[in-house]
Amino acid sequence: MVEREQWASRVGFILAAVGSAVGLGNIWRFPYVTAENGGAAFLVVYLAAVVAIGLPAMLAEFVVGRGSHRNVVDAFERVGYPRARVIGVVGLFTGFFILAYYSVVGGWVLRYVLASATGAYFGKPSAYFGAISAGLDALAFHAIFMATTVGIVAAGVREGIEVATKLMVPTILVLMVALAAWALTLPGAGDGLAYYLTPDVGVLVSNLGTILPFAVGQAFFTLSLGMGAMITYASYVGDEDNLGVDALTIVLFNTFVGVLAGFVVFPLLFAQGVDPGDPGPGAIFVSIATAFGELDATFGTLPVGRVLGVVFFGVVAIAALSSAISLLEVVVSYVLDNYDVDRPAAATAVGTLMFLVGVPSALDTDVLSLADTVASNLLLPLGVTLVVVFVGWVFGRQAVEELDVGTGEGETLESVWLWHVRVALVVAVVFTLALSVAELLGAEVLP
Ligand code: PHE
Repeated sequence: MVEREQWASRVGFILAAVGSAVGLGNIWRFPYVTAENGGAAFLVVYLAAVVAIGLPAMLAEFVVGRGSHRNVVDAFERVGYPRARVIGVVGLFTGFFILAYYSVVGGWVLRYVLASATGAYFGKPSAYFGAISAGLDALAFHAIFMATTVGIVAAGVREGIEVATKLMVPTILVLMVALAAWALTLPGAGDGLAYYLTPDVGVLVSNLGTILPFAVGQAFFTLSLGMGAMITYASYVGDEDNLGVDALTIVLFNTFVGVLAGFVVFPLLFAQGVDPGDPGPGAIFVSIATAFGELDATFGTLPVGRVLGVVFFGVVAIAALSSAISLLEVVVSYVLDNYDVDRPAAATAVGTLMFLVGVPSALDTDVLSLADTVASNLLLPLGVTLVVVFVGWVFGRQAVEELDVGTGEGETLESVWLWHVRVALVVAVVFTLALSVAELLGAEVLP
């Protein structure tokens, strides 16, 4: 068996985890879900979900990961509960399931980096999206995206994931800030912000039944919770880290990028007079591409729209990739801990299988949307529920001790956390899961 790796530094771990969290969820999903669900009113519910549910749930995953220094399945056995391995198996399955379609969307993004450079979608943004989002083109770029992901993971925890995310995450932050600063200067930016941020309590109240599971599901998706990515990344952390501080840092960075994405997307759309349109897997591609096309036309021979298009989709591509590697690593880590194969072989084999599972999503965007809804509204909440029940009620005091290893400050705060996990979190996630199931079955539970 290959020797288990550890992060070279604490910063390396934090950046890798931020890389996992910041992804398509922040830039592709978050701004739309917010605008469609009551703007700032939704933002408040979402932020509350991130702080009150996401953050403590992330700590629960960290404790299992670092406490065991094992992959998502064996972690539970290592900390003393062999029967809880089933939680890890659910996570493994979810990771497989998500990366399969996530890579298809990642492929679209890569395609849009190229298409922005050549202006391929100018003047026909919807037809262009229709042509490349399903079929052989989509399949080809799905393959390229997956191969890139495999390449990074194959290089190792330190040499691959850590090195890559140390470059990627600062790049994402700098470019997003720059893009937002630019977008906010556009004429009409104010209307975009108003659309994004105007609280519409009416929408919130009358759609609470859908908005709550969406807000919580989005919080899990964006924080990479519920499938073992954070368990796996924390399993490479040394015992001296203060996990609470790490989790808080990761959550703050992730929220910052999410909110910032809205500051880029909406001013841009409103400045160019583009209707944000219906949410759906293609929405951002069509509307943003329209805006870049218009922008390019405004400047005549100067390729302003092209350059900014490349930068924008480039940032999205990097963000998607740094998340995809965490999804792949969950499964690769399991294979490496259990079978006598080397990392490149494991990464290639798992990546190939995931590619195949993603084929139906690359051939039909409806399949992709369905997979996305099932993953974030059902599988992730299920995964989080299992983990918080386990950590709260089974792992219990041991979890508190594990947290205290890195802080050594006594266990008061940790005990508050434990009771929060035991009661508030368990109630919240079970409730969310129930709402999601009802929602998927088409029942109207809340208005
Ligand atoms: N957090 C990532 C995003 O926002 C997606 C993701 C989900 C990554 C689950 C890993 C695990 O795009």
